[in-house]
Amino acid sequence: MVDPKKKKEENEDEEDLEDLIIEEDEEISEEEAEQFVKSIADRLYVQDQVIEGQKKIIEKYEKQIHQLSNPPSSLKIALSQEETSYSDIGGLDSVLEKIKHFEYGIDCPYAYSSYGIDPPKGLLMYGPPGTGKTMIAKAMSNELGCWFLELPLSLIISKYVGEAEQNLEAAINSARKKYHQTERKVMLFVDEAEQMFRKKGSHNGHEVVDRCVNVWLRTMDGMGNNEGLIFVAATNYLEKIDDALLRAGRFDYVVEIPKPNLAGVEDIFVKQMRMKEEKANREIYQLTNSEGLSEMMYACRMTGADIANVLKQASFNQIQYFMQSSAMGKPMCKEELMIRDKDLIAVIDLYDRVKEEKKFVGFNV
Ligand SMILES: Nc1ncnc2c1ncn2[C@@H]1O[C@H](COP(=O)(O)OP(=O)(O)O)[C@@H](O)[C@H]1O
Ligand SMILES: [Mg+2]
Repeated sequence: MVDPKKKKEENEDEEDLEDLIIEEDEEISEEEAEQFVKSIADRLYVQDQVIEGQKKIIEKYEKQIHQLSNPPSSLKIALSQEETSYSDIGGLDSVLEKIKHFEYGIDCPYAYSSYGIDPPKGLLMYGPPGTGKTMIAKAMSNELGCWFLELPLSLIISKYVGEAEQNLEAAINSARKKYHQTERKVMLFVDEAEQMFRKKGSHNGHEVVDRCVNVWLRTMDGMGNNEGLIFVAATNYLEKIDDALLRAGRFDYVVEIPKPNLAGVEDIFVKQMRMKEEKANREIYQLTNSEGLSEMMYACRMTGADIANVLKQASFNQIQYFMQSSAMGKPMCKEELMIRDKDLIAVIDLYDRVKEEKKFVGFNV
C-alpha cells in the first residue's frame, strides 16, 4: 500500500521540479537562463552534500560494527605473561606486604567470606612517577600466574562518539574470552588511571571520560561477568580520580607507593645492578663505596626509575668510550670495561645539575 505521507512528499518534489521545467518553444531571457542553470547547480550541490553526509554516517556505523566484533589487534597483543618478580623490586617491603593481602582475596576469597566480608575488588596504587607501580602490577600478575592486559589509553580515549566505550568493552570482553579459553585469570591494568577515571565533569567537555567511567562501574559492579578478571590501576594523582570508583566493591584497596628512603635507595641500587649483571651474564660494576653512592642518590630524592636511569646512562657513557677507543685502534681491556664509582658519580652529579636547572624532568637516555 502506498504511504500517503511519502506520496505527498513525492508530489511536492514534482511540483518543485515543475517550476524548473521550461517548455522547448518558450522564450527566455539571458538572465532567466542563468537563473535556471544556477538553480539546477544548487540543487545538484545540495544532493551531493546529502549523499556525502549519508556516506559518512554509513562509514561510521560500519566502523563501529567492525570494532564490536573485532577488538583492536593491539589490545590482543598487549596480553602478556610477565617475568618481573617481587624479588626485583627494591625498597618496598611493607608495600609488598599490603599487596599480598590483596592477593589473598583473589587466591582465597573464602578467608574473607568466613568473616562475613567481601574480598577487595580492585587495587589502586598511587604515588610519584617512577616509584615502581607498573613493576608491582607486572610482578603481581607473574606471582598469581595470570595474564597481564594493560589497557592502552590511546585506543580507549577517542574523539569519536561511542568509540571509546566500545573499545573499552571490547578489551574487557577479550579478557573474559581469554580467561574462558585458557582458564587463567586476566589482570586488567590501567596506568595513568587519572585519565580514564577522571572526576565527572572535570574534563572540559570530554564526556567520553564520563562514559568510560560508567563502563567501569558497570563492569566492576558485576553486571557483566567478572569471573576471572583482576582489576588493578595506578595513578600519580589520586585526587583526580572520580570518588565513585573508590567506593566499596570497586577500586576499594588503595595503596600508596612512596619514593624510597635511604635504605630503599640502597636496596633498589643493589637489585638494579644485579638484574643488569644477570642479563649481561658478566660482572659489570666494581664499586668501593656503594653506600656513599646511595647517599648521593638519596640526597637527590631519586626514585627507582631514576636509579635505573643512572645505571643506564653510565653504561651508555662506557659504550661511547669503547666505540671511540676501538675506532682509534686501541680497544679497551676487560678491566676498563667495568663501571666504577667515578663513572656513577659523574652521572649523579649531572642528574643533580639538570634537576636544579629544571631542564628536563625524566632523565631518560
Ligand atoms: N622499587 C623499585 N625497585 C626496582 N626498580 C624500580 C623500582 N621502581 C622503579 N624501578 C625501575 O624503574 C622502572 C620504571 O618504574 P615503573 O614501575 O614504570 O614506575 P611507575 O609505574 O610508578 O611510574 C622500572 O621498570 C624499574 O626498572
Ligand atoms: Mg607506570
